Amino acid sequence: MALILGIESSCDETSAAIVRDGEEVISNVVLSQFATHKPYEGVVPELASREHLRNIVPVVRAALERAGQTHESVDAIAVTRGPGLAGALLVGLSFAKAICFAVDKPLIAVNHLEGHIHAVLLEQRVAGNHQLAFPVLALVVSGGHTHLYLAEQNDNSWTYSNIGHTRDDAAGEAFDKVAKLLGLGYPGGPVIDRLAKLGDPYAVKFVSAQLKHRDRRDHGKPEEDCPHFDFSYSGIKTAALRYVELNNLRDAIETRRKELARIAQPTVDDYQRLCDQQTLDLVASFQRAVVEDLVSKTLAAAENYNVATLLVTGGVAANSELRATFEREGAHAGVAVYFPSRPLSTDNAAMIAAAAYPKFLASEFAPMDISAEAGLVLR
Ligand code: KG4
Ligand code: ZN
Repeated sequence: MALILGIESSCDETSAAIVRDGEEVISNVVLSQFATHKPYEGVVPELASREHLRNIVPVVRAALERAGQTHESVDAIAVTRGPGLAGALLVGLSFAKAICFAVDKPLIAVNHLEGHIHAVLLEQRVAGNHQLAFPVLALVVSGGHTHLYLAEQNDNSWTYSNIGHTRDDAAGEAFDKVAKLLGLGYPGGPVIDRLAKLGDPYAVKFVSAQLKHRDRRDHGKPEEDCPHFDFSYSGIKTAALRYVELNNLRDAIETRRKELARIAQPTVDDYQRLCDQQTLDLVASFQRAVVEDLVSKTLAAAENYNVATLLVTGGVAANSELRATFEREGAHAGVAVYFPSRPLSTDNAAMIAAAAYPKFLASEFAPMDISAEAGLVLR
């Protein structure tokens, strides 16, 4: 039996968790910095680092206490090494190193994206699904990433090859930017998710990006070595901006922005009261366009690689329309589709502790001079 303390601090959530054997979440404490960044309508990296610094000790303590554990009683400390905000990552990594040094425990460095993938694997194991059908494709769709990976397992080791990524904005970033444009606040995804149900998804036409050109990073390789299934969301975001300008929505947006800023935790009724039908239709059409694009490109990649199992994970995987569409279209295509539960879709430390478990079994420990890597690549 192995108890792993996981620590996550890559963006705007400080989190710590205790996970047994990569599958039983004994505690998972997530402290969101929502209130700190709300006035800026987006994550301010400097403030994020300061908040992590303030919160890391109580969050780790709470995770240990809720699990009835101590620093000494766990078997290893796992921490996110990257990708993420450099200063934010450093807080978690330095704290994890300090614990390892003080109580003489091994350190396990985890890629945040691998954590998102293991959020699904963890819950599948809990549900009794220990043998996934391969090939396995994972879509990590979050505020910073829209990446497709083929995932392979050899004994305890997982490896990943990237077969597609966004050329510009990540899908979650587009949700956040469009919400900001419409004066709906931060983070945009959950608000758009709730409001989209109230609008007509066919009211505004958005054209999805058809990427004809190869990614510049693939130049020099033969075409068959790198069929690409790339995404692009900056066009949809710009189309939303043009719609706002052409339809003179600016004044209404400013009024909404000011009204919402006065409410600490706006409810769906507050948003609905402050949005006219045209805005709700725009929101619904935007969400439909992003969801259709994500689902069709991912399933095209799945078909190309004869994929048997698709894992959809990351903050945007919490989106209700995305889940429903993937479930429907996946069943149609004969691909088993799995998501994390909503609490494990967005950033959390349980997924970091779960991803660390195979590395623990393989004694894949990190040296104490390891550094944070803001642009860490998943392989
Ligand atoms: O995985 P995550 O918590 O952090 C990153 O690694 O980026 O993802 C955060 C992103 C944000 O862009 C947020 O707006 C989006 O996930 N998100 C959603 C939903 N919940 C969170 N997007 C669409 N629908 C949601 N329900
Ligand atoms: Zn994330």
